Amino acid sequence: MTTSSRKSVLLIGASRGLGLAMAREYVERGWQVTGTVRGSGRTGLHDLSERSSGQFQIEMVDINVPDQVLALHQRLESRIFDLLFVDAGVTNGPHETIADVSTEEFTRLMVTNALSPMRVLEALQDLVPAHGTLGVMSSGQGVSRTTTAAALRSTGPAKRPSTRSCAASPPVTPMTRGRWC
Ligand SMILES: NC(=O)c1ccc[n+]([C@@H]2O[C@H](COP(=O)([O-])OP(=O)(O)OC[C@H]3O[C@@H](n4cnc5c(N)ncnc54)[C@H](OP(=O)(O)O)[C@@H]3O)[C@@H](O)[C@H]2O)c1
Repeated sequence: MTTSSRKSVLLIGASRGLGLAMAREYVERGWQVTGTVRGSGRTGLHDLSERSSGQFQIEMVDINVPDQVLALHQRLESRIFDLLFVDAGVTNGPHETIADVSTEEFTRLMVTNALSPMRVLEALQDLVPAHGTLGVMSSGQGVSRTTTAAALRSTGPAKRPSTRSCAASPPVTPMTRGRWC
């Protein structure tokens, strides 16, 4: 397969976890993969990149910093992606209740898991053609993401037929088994 005939994916938040797993999967399928990390430290994505020469590009973005999202768009604006998928997200302590969580921590979770992913889709959507797909990894906590998506439904990314809410509910569809949108 030549580079130009390969399908391409832009994975936001691919240093580890589900983003890295998706990067591995798309490399195996022969796609051209662009994955993002934060900071300059070495990550699993760098290891994967070294094993996947010619099929891989690593970019840098913190989704909570709009200027970095804008700069990423500028660096990639000559590219087209079949799929843009936001895996970046954070979580709080597994046993913390709302009474335990500080306002700062709640704000960090909401900004990173709800507001920033939607901003990324809005900012980068023109890198994906109309027949392409926009996706966001989600979960029970992702109700906020889907709610935010609903709020955006009349504009931007959510206008696309290939964009739909898809929060996997753990009791029915465990996240780790994967559910794709
Ligand atoms: N794994 C599961 O079974 C599961 C279940 C339910 C929901 N989810 C949700 O799915 C998403 C991904 O889960 P995961 O298990 O892959 O999480 P993870 O292993 O903690 O990985 C999170 C990824 O997001 C990146 N990230 C965090 N904040 C970022 C920011 N501000 N800007 C850019 N990248 C950022 C991290 O980069 P760094 O390495 O730089 O921190 C890392 O690559 C999360 O929203 C999580 O809540 C996952």
